[in-house]
Amino acid sequence: MGKLDGRVIVITGAARGQGEQEARLFAAEGARVVLGDVLEEEGAALAAELGPERARFVRLDVAVEEDWAALVAAAAEAFGKIDGLVNNAGILRFNALVDTPLAEFRQVLDVNQTGCFLGIRAVAPEIAAAGGGTIVNTASYAGLTGMAFVGAYAATKHAVVGLTRVAALELASQGIRVNAVCPGAVDTPMTNPAALNPSADPAASAEAARAVDELYRKLVPLGRIGRPEEVARLALFLTGEDSSYVTGQPFVIDGGWLAGVSPF
Ligand SMILES: NC(=O)c1ccc[n+]([C@@H]2O[C@H](COP(=O)([O-])OP(=O)(O)OC[C@H]3O[C@@H](n4cnc5c(N)ncnc54)[C@H](O)[C@@H]3O)[C@@H](O)[C@H]2O)c1
Repeated sequence: MGKLDGRVIVITGAARGQGEQEARLFAAEGARVVLGDVLEEEGAALAAELGPERARFVRLDVAVEEDWAALVAAAAEAFGKIDGLVNNAGILRFNALVDTPLAEFRQVLDVNQTGCFLGIRAVAPEIAAAGGGTIVNTASYAGLTGMAFVGAYAATKHAVVGLTRVAALELASQGIRVNAVCPGAVDTPMTNPAALNPSADPAASAEAARAVDELYRKLVPLGRIGRPEEVARLALFLTGEDSSYVTGQPFVIDGGWLAGVSPF
């Protein structure tokens, strides 16, 4: 028996990183997964690997309203219902606030914040029609405390925590629980741009990777960066019945990092 037997779960940003690990874990736990991403080749390859009984890839830009309508229709056609959503897609841009171009600020808001809102708005009625279920939003450590040079990103992740609380209140009566994961630093292409640029000088990449390891060894009480599989296990807990009395909460998964700077 899997923890998600019979469930149909939509996962955004599922082509790589945390979303990919969530797709793999959820499918292994018996779910059928609908994978949405702008990375068509990688998303389609993952769906093919998981198999047509288990997975479908749908091209989805989370910031585009029409894409959500198309995803909901494709999910209904493939699997007949939707009873869970993981809003995972996100982008990160580094810039001082005073140097951030308006277009960049708006782009981060469009994907991280509006994308999460559009996902809830498009999918919650489907989940309600299926008799209830779950939504897991992906916020961040930067959604709970300040972090210099990621102003747009931190603003959106605070907003995702707020959306999570409001959605939990509004959707509880329809049997929908809504929670958020708040990862610290996790080893994915988002935090490791060198992995996306294999043509970079290997010696420079190795040196950068050593510097990053050293940074996290000092910053994080558990002494290392997180793994995307670890975030996927938290998302599984919040999607499955083990969290049946849990809603409206942000869950920090950061190796203890925030404990040292807690604003609460
Ligand atoms: N990696 C970290 O340290 C970290 C920490 C805290 C929170 N997060 C959050 O976790 C989530 C997953 O990040 P990740 O680390 O796996 O990064 P990643 O860059 O490896 O993966 C993000 C995925 O989202 C997809 N995506 C981007 N824009 C999209 C759009 N407009 N529509 C649909 N898909 C889109 C990308 O194509 C990619 O597949 C993000 O919301 C991110 O902000 C990551």
